Amino acid sequence: MTPVLETRRLTKRFGGLTALQDLDLVVSERTIASVIGPNGAGKTTLFNCISGFYAPEEGDVIFCGRRSLVGLAPDQVAHLGISRTYQNIRLFANMTALENILVGYHNRLTATWIASLFRTPRQRREEERALQEARQLLAFVGLGGCGDELARNLPYGAQRRLELARALANQPRLLLLDEPTAGMNPHETEDMMAFIRRLRDELGVTILLIEHDMRVVMGISEQVTVLDYGLKIAEGRPAEIQANPRVIEAYLGQRRDEVSPARPMDTGPPMADPAASRADVDRLPRSDDPEEPLRR
Ligand SMILES: Nc1ncnc2c1ncn2[C@@H]1O[C@H](COP(=O)(O)OP(=O)(O)OP(=O)(O)O)[C@@H](O)[C@H]1O
Ligand SMILES: [Mg+2]
Repeated sequence: MTPVLETRRLTKRFGGLTALQDLDLVVSERTIASVIGPNGAGKTTLFNCISGFYAPEEGDVIFCGRRSLVGLAPDQVAHLGISRTYQNIRLFANMTALENILVGYHNRLTATWIASLFRTPRQRREEERALQEARQLLAFVGLGGCGDELARNLPYGAQRRLELARALANQPRLLLLDEPTAGMNPHETEDMMAFIRRLRDELGVTILLIEHDMRVVMGISEQVTVLDYGLKIAEGRPAEIQANPRVIEAYLGQRRDEVSPARPMDTGPPMADPAASRADVDRLPRSDDPEEPLRR
């Protein structure tokens, strides 16, 4: 079966730092695959290379066996059917939940700008359909009654689900989730795990997720890839990874260049403050930044 995603010797450098080195990764259709590794291992950099935020120095990213994603802008990658969520939630804080989802339709609306200007019947039909679908999506993520709430007023777990609903509006074939349960309580984490399974089982979406909570990783993944200092140090089924000495060492070893120590594999709780985790995404414009809508 053709993989949905394949990276070939993917390499990304920042000055003298190699954040990702010669990474080969294959994700088959309808798989839930995880990428794990200590802080700074290159996980988010991988997502940024796939989704068009960063251009890799070497290597390739192949979507559905045909299309190279290298050189495409984020909106072009999204248009092909790849959606993502972010390590630190990115929502339009002062827009309603429904409006946040409608932003995700941007890629799918077909009316021309002239049609938009004069609000032709076709334009109106598209808008109505998008609104109806957005309501269905809200219900699907368990936020049925929250359409008119401002995003900033939603509880943390609900904001994460709203971000996911927006990603789904693009009808992705591949969904990239960067620490989807970070900062969640155990109950919210359980819900999110069940929800990710539903996305795969009911919508047939292939999922690649970055996670620090090992209960989540081991509970829902069929394939686990372990990065350390930008290198793949292990890959396999969850049970194999859990028993791999190199993986255990990477997690238990004190980082030479890190302020925060790597977290042990068997301590489940996700980081208390996901915003405290160092992320390159912080250096990118945020969704509540007026620049951000223009970037899409
Ligand atoms: N835009 C950037 N400019 C410079 N260095 C960067 C940039 N983005 C990432 N890095 C560096 O690349 C390395 C990998 O970062 P990355 O964010 O991919 O790690 P991560 O595995 O996602 O870590 P975490 O678990 O903390 O989120 C780190 O050393 C980071 O400081
Ligand atoms: Mg990260």
